Amino acid sequence: MTELILSLDLCDRRQAASIAESCAPYIDAVKVGYPLVLSAGLGIVQDLAGLGLPLIADFKVADIPNTNRLICDAVFSAGFDAVIAHGFVGPDAVRTCVEVAHDRGGAVYVVAEMSHPGAVEFFHGGVAERIATLAVNCRADGIIAPATRPDRIGRLREIVGRRTIYSPGVGTQGGDIDTVAGLVDGVIVGRSIYEAEDPAAEAKLLSRIRR
Ligand code: C5P
Repeated sequence: MTELILSLDLCDRRQAASIAESCAPYIDAVKVGYPLVLSAGLGIVQDLAGLGLPLIADFKVADIPNTNRLICDAVFSAGFDAVIAHGFVGPDAVRTCVEVAHDRGGAVYVVAEMSHPGAVEFFHGGVAERIATLAVNCRADGIIAPATRPDRIGRLREIVGRRTIYSPGVGTQGGDIDTVAGLVDGVIVGRSIYEAEDPAAEAKLLSRIRR
């Protein structure tokens, strides 16, 4: 089954909670990042906990091992189930995230390649492949790969094998959900759902990938 993950990049706590609740029957997890946590506070995690869905902290953690440890400790103490980390910081920094996550029964997904046009500047030319390899070697639970470049997902799949691939970039960023759904374990969708006139109806429509 391909999961549908709601990227809740809203800045209003009540609106975010309400949209997540209305979409909950059609989604498999909620991804929360800086826009929502910095605007609404960490209390949003408690608001969302009642949905009974995994909560993914998209903080793209990218620091030295000690700071990564402090960040990941705080993430899992707040009630998140998984964290997204950058891999370019190197194996010791990624391993620290994985250690903390696995100690807490959580998961780490490493950004192998980003989905926006400018990402090709640094991620292409072998870097994304090296980061994906690092994610495997560091025993991360999976990687993040761009829905905007399905060919790249195929290449990264060769490296990570059966590890999880979550993929953002469909809809507003241009990726086609039906093309990508067959290549990955979960598709991450933000604006196409939460900016829709009826977010729940849009989530229901996109939930066709959960087969
Ligand atoms: O609104 P949209 O569906 O484009 O949201 C995509 C989400 O996934 C955003 O939260 C964005 O920060 C995140 N993301 C991404 N590309 C990556 C990693 C994360 O678009 N490679």
